[in-house]
Amino acid sequence: MRTVYVNGQYMPENEATVSIFDRGFLMADGVYEVTSVLDGKLIDFEGHSVRLERSLGELDMRNPISKEDLLEVHRELVRVNEIDEGLIYLQVTRGSDGDRDFAFPDPETTEPTIVLFTQNKPGLADSPAAKRGSKVISIEDIRWGRRDIKTVQLLYPSMGKMMAKKAGCDDAWMVEDGMVTEGTSNNAYIVKGNRIITRHLGTEILHGITRAAVLRFAREAQMEVEERSFTIEEAQAADEAFTTSASAFVMPVVEIDGVALGEGVPGKVALRLREIYLDEMRKAAV
Ligand code: PDD
Repeated sequence: MRTVYVNGQYMPENEATVSIFDRGFLMADGVYEVTSVLDGKLIDFEGHSVRLERSLGELDMRNPISKEDLLEVHRELVRVNEIDEGLIYLQVTRGSDGDRDFAFPDPETTEPTIVLFTQNKPGLADSPAAKRGSKVISIEDIRWGRRDIKTVQLLYPSMGKMMAKKAGCDDAWMVEDGMVTEGTSNNAYIVKGNRIITRHLGTEILHGITRAAVLRFAREAQMEVEERSFTIEEAQAADEAFTTSASAFVMPVVEIDGVALGEGVPGKVALRLREIYLDEMRKAAV
């Protein structure tokens, strides 16, 4: 049984509880982060803690924990749950004032709720899915307009994942005004020759922590990076495509809406970036 962290305390997962009035439960009024663990160490903890702070700020939510304490909780959960490869899920909600109301409760009297738990994923880095590549479908992006805030409103991305599964695929890329925004739980890229193209940052997509690192490594490896939007048709005609996320690192995409990319196998740029990302991030892990 896992040990989890709830509001300042470590406890067995079956003893952890949150109020039925918690605004995370009633209104999806909460934000989250997912940080990966490799060799028992945290990948890009700094990036995730900075984004958490930003998400909370954008929603006028108080941060219940200092960065130092948050790092300590992550490390302690990795230690007690003996995680070598896996994920740490962190969620902060606006808490509960013991009732339901659209107006935010007074932050002076209502404490945010903070929950962390681990997910053990042996073989996360050496994933068979990355060797096979993923097949995606495109779906309309009907999410709200502040996708740069990492909120727990994940119903539509979950539905997108189910639509993909139903179509015999692995994931969905979302499209708004004819342009790809991002994957259900990752950022989307195409490759043409030595050029990597990925949507520019804005409120339409999540500012991926993996994205920032991968673009840095790509530039260091003398690849060209173009941050602009692209269509599904342009992606289908590209040499390669891939996605990035903290849970799947760099994942090659081999098919979009039934059209195979190149040879229909993971591309060499995606595989090289995956290797560089894993090597460099393992070295920098804390
Ligand atoms: N998802 N875009 C969306 C919509 C996401 O949900 C995620 C991450 C990303 C990639 O961000 P990062 O590189 O910081 O993980 C982009 C996480 C992994 C999840 O929901 O499990």
